Amino acid sequence: MKKIEDYVRSIPDFPEPGIIFRDVTSILQDADGLKLAIDSMQECLKDTEVDVIVGTESRGFMFGVPIAYNLHKPFVPVRKKGKLPCETVSRSYDLEYGSATIEMHRDSIKPGQKVAVIDDLIATGGTVEAAVKLIEELGGEVVKIVFLMELAGLKGREKLAGYDVASVIRYE
Ligand code: PRP
Ligand code: ADE
Repeated sequence: MKKIEDYVRSIPDFPEPGIIFRDVTSILQDADGLKLAIDSMQECLKDTEVDVIVGTESRGFMFGVPIAYNLHKPFVPVRKKGKLPCETVSRSYDLEYGSATIEMHRDSIKPGQKVAVIDDLIATGGTVEAAVKLIEELGGEVVKIVFLMELAGLKGREKLAGYDVASVIRYE
């Protein structure tokens, strides 16, 4: 029986020298890999009461939407700047390579809602840290954060100290 690790293709020096890129497309393009990934991430939520699933553009959508669908919960996208049509809240942050600004619709989370954040991967933790701040600005309570992959050497978890963080596989 194959493990998630077996489906991940690792590409050295992409998108820049020194980065080992952990590719999710090799998981998604295999029906067994896709099912194993979604089921494994969803399992991390089994003891958590959640009102809303939030996923970050774009790979967080690939895993967040099927989990929200399976749990019959709403899905809220965190999008890169300039994509959302209504009133937004926004934050800028640094990545393993580059920087970005993300946004959420101001009316996407109601005060007091319990939120689980889903993303494919944690590297520096900058993306999800920014997403958590946006959710909290809107009055949501982040009750769980689930990643498929954790690049532990980059210590992204330190940015999420105090939150309940789970990852399915770890790379040192
Ligand atoms: C990647 C990945 C995470 C983030 C992790 O997204 O999907 O969201 O980087 O890095 P961090 O922990 O250092 O913030 P990216 O911004 O490359 O966008 P994509 O999902 O559209 O490829
Ligand atoms: N996002 C940030 N760092 C990454 C990496 N090493 N592989 C895949 N996605 C990433």
